Amino acid sequence: MTYEELAKLSVEAKKIALPPYSNFHVGAALLTKGGKVYLGGNIETSSYSLTICAERTAVFKAISEGEREFKAVAIASDSPDFCPPCGSCRQVLFDLCGNIDVVLINHKGEIKVLKMSELLPYAFSDIDLKK
Ligand code: THU
Repeated sequence: MTYEELAKLSVEAKKIALPPYSNFHVGAALLTKGGKVYLGGNIETSSYSLTICAERTAVFKAISEGEREFKAVAIASDSPDFCPPCGSCRQVLFDLCGNIDVVLINHKGEIKVLKMSELLPYAFSDIDLKK
């Protein structure tokens, strides 16, 4: 699977988002090292702060299906520009997926590839819990 293909799947994943309050759709497509893709959309509730982002939906779906090794995550949104993951998602992605590639796609279909370590430098992780 190319990163262009993965990015197109993240655009498709916007359709499974449920953002009735912000009306801002985000889609994520998480690629495992084994080549499987898990899709996620953002899900909002009437208690706004309980919202979950598209990226975390995809990560938790994959982890709860037993996946542990990941290659990349693609992210698409309703913004015409690239949509970078929020701070909470950066921590979750780095902790549970490692230093994967992050593939962003804008409305022109252009893609930008970043490393998680660029998005979350000097990250807190399980290493810091070891005494
Ligand atoms: N959102 C995501 O799904 N991922 C991000 O990285 C940024 C924000 C969602 C959360 C909320 O449902 C909506 O976008 C507006 O913030």
